Amino acid sequence: MNNSNLSRRSWLRSSLVIASGAAVAPAALGRTTFATDQASLWAEQSRLKEIDFRLPLIMPPSVARLNANENPFGPSPKARLAVIESAINGNRYAHGEATKLRKMIAEREGVSEEYIMMGPGSTDLLEKVAITHFLEGGNIVSADPAYMSLINTAKAFKATWKNVPLKKDWSHDCAAMEKAIDANTKLVYVCNPNNPTGSITDAAELRAFCNKAADKAPIFVDEAYLDYLDNPMASSMVDLVAKGKNVIVARTFSKIHGMAGLRIGYIVALPKTLEKIENMVRGNMGMCITSVNGAIASMEDKEFQERSRKLTAEGREFICAELKKAGFSYVPSHTSFVLFPIVMNGKDFLKKMYDSGVAVRSFEVDAKTYCRVSVGLPDELKLFTDSLKKVLA
Ligand SMILES: Cc1ncc(COP(=O)(O)O)c(C=O)c1O
Repeated sequence: MNNSNLSRRSWLRSSLVIASGAAVAPAALGRTTFATDQASLWAEQSRLKEIDFRLPLIMPPSVARLNANENPFGPSPKARLAVIESAINGNRYAHGEATKLRKMIAEREGVSEEYIMMGPGSTDLLEKVAITHFLEGGNIVSADPAYMSLINTAKAFKATWKNVPLKKDWSHDCAAMEKAIDANTKLVYVCNPNNPTGSITDAAELRAFCNKAADKAPIFVDEAYLDYLDNPMASSMVDLVAKGKNVIVARTFSKIHGMAGLRIGYIVALPKTLEKIENMVRGNMGMCITSVNGAIASMEDKEFQERSRKLTAEGREFICAELKKAGFSYVPSHTSFVLFPIVMNGKDFLKKMYDSGVAVRSFEVDAKTYCRVSVGLPDELKLFTDSLKKVLA
């Protein structure tokens, strides 16, 4: 690269890294010292870059939508019925129904109701937490790659992102994350299992980290995909909240319940944390009566949740087996999607896949191109594997 093309900032960054003796590679950059005076170093070094290819928002029904980690098996038939039946009460606020749902959620999580805040999807709560924690700036510590929703909102409020590279096995580097926490850290964000990698961090290791780190800063654990594990509650950090730790656990009805379009999510947190949020924005509002009743019915439909988990695991196994047969490697997944490296320009890849009827996502991690494919119906997955072989032939 011509020197004149280097921005002052990237020049400064390169020279700082060279001066510190570290290799000039994205992953290594993230491991430079954690001093707050290097704030500008943190914000620009994400290992992850999403390939900018806009899929049409309205896709023909023939396209296999394997790009947004939606659950192709949902919603549960009981939830569908509840949604339809409650449309007639659409003139009413859902206060009574929401109280019932909140109670059910509290029972499931083993806490009392004042530990639960609900919203129209967990995105609403990721944003509420970011807004209320970063009004006065500060820094957010998370893994990299990570799910960027909360982090991006925090950055919009002038937070500095302290991105700690995932380890080689794609699990969280708990020791490095703990070191990254300083007096200015307003929140630590953990996504387990992680998106977009699909990887998992050992529950015992994560619990030990949260236990210790929560004494320094609040820990937000996004468990959107946890329900896809065989025994999700064993790996949840929710018991720490019940024990009084400053941990916030987020869950969604968009994944295992297959209700992404119906928009219900919640957080489990200490009442004092929820009070802080409620002093600024309204919690437990924003959900519509149809969705609330759908969520109640879905929670009661354990058979559907089990089926959803089983069919997702089968779909994931099919994708991995086909990738293996075709000579691809992939990141071992514990979710409803699989990330794997491809040797092709990401934009061209997405276009060619879309032209053959399959919508997927593509990311660069450490400048290497990856495809992320969500579990779909068997026909959709067959179309995906056939298209992949054609496109990458
Ligand atoms: C890790 C993670 N958290 C949160 C969300 C947001 O889900 P929702 O707003 O539908 O609850 C997603 C969506 O894909 C996700 O992958």
